[in-house]
Amino acid sequence: MSKINAAITGIHAWAPDYILTNKELETIVDTTDEWILTRTGVKERHILKGEGLGTSHIGVKAVEGLLKKTNTSPDEVDLLICATVTPDMLFPATATIISEKAGIKNAFSYDLNAACSGFIYALDTGRRFVESGQYKKVVVVGADKMSSIVDYTDRTTCILFGDAGGAVLLEPTTEDLGIIDSKMYSDGVGIPHLHQKAGGSVKPPSHETVDAREHYIYQEGQAVFKFAVTKMADVSVEIMERNNLKSEDIAYLVPHQANMRIIDATARRMGLEKEKVMINIERYGNTTNGTILMCLHEWAPKLKKGDNIILSAFGGGFTWGSVYLKWAIDNE
Ligand code: UT7
Repeated sequence: MSKINAAITGIHAWAPDYILTNKELETIVDTTDEWILTRTGVKERHILKGEGLGTSHIGVKAVEGLLKKTNTSPDEVDLLICATVTPDMLFPATATIISEKAGIKNAFSYDLNAACSGFIYALDTGRRFVESGQYKKVVVVGADKMSSIVDYTDRTTCILFGDAGGAVLLEPTTEDLGIIDSKMYSDGVGIPHLHQKAGGSVKPPSHETVDAREHYIYQEGQAVFKFAVTKMADVSVEIMERNNLKSEDIAYLVPHQANMRIIDATARRMGLEKEKVMINIERYGNTTNGTILMCLHEWAPKLKKGDNIILSAFGGGFTWGSVYLKWAIDNE
């Protein structure tokens, strides 16, 4: 029997309409468009406004678009995994809320949290269900409403993040396409440098935690930067080497969009020119679990069946990893 691979057979992504520009941020915190652009590469980010709208709103937009595009009935979906750090509620899982809103009734669903690496962790997890032969249609969502945990009085973090998300459909193939290899890492050495102090079981919400502004992202930027810039490049080169890929064999790198300088360093180590790197950080900022999906969705019309693509991410924890896949969608 030939091996079953899991292939991405559809992709959709969505960002809310409201655009928060660097110019507007200049009126909120002590910063400049020039500082933000040179240090991060971000010009603007999208923000989800509206009472009662959380991450599932983004996820549902992505999933409904995906099901329509791929002509998939909600009843056919076997499993939905949602990677997020900003769940609608601590429980139930946002994946279950998305499934409910999208009319997905015959599937099981759960969330996965690996900070900014969550989407590639979820993709690597979803892939295994398809490869087992037991599951035929697996939806992997990556979505975050980062504005819900961003402190708009903290200039070191509020300039970085935006809201967005996307979803892919994974289906089996016996062709030499789809997800070929992956390598994931985590190291708790990063815990003190990037986390949210309160709201979990160690420090449940209280008046004190709210007054101390502990329900927001806490990041020591330089410490995270140093680790990210090395590890994202290391794992990207590792996945190339163990699959005997030279830079000329790679059609695109799809990097997590946290900082333009981290993306550049990764591309340089892989020997890739800029044209082979998907970058839209200037328009969306860091959307955590949304970044890779927002890029793939934007570039999908240009991709050709069989293209070698490397996805790479780095996030809180620390977590990091790379996925090597052969694009399986035929645009012709
Ligand atoms: O996706 C999850 C993983 N996260 C990441 O990968 C993020 C990694 N870190 C970074 O991308 C960068 O560290 C930042 C973009 C967060 C910060 O850039 P940096 O080059 O490391 O700046 P810095 O923290 O060293 O700050 C340099 C200076 C400081 O002033 P002094 O001490 O030199 O006087 C900051 O106070 O820039 C100041 N600063 C700002 N100035 C204007 C910090 N934020 C701002 C700001 N506007 N928004």
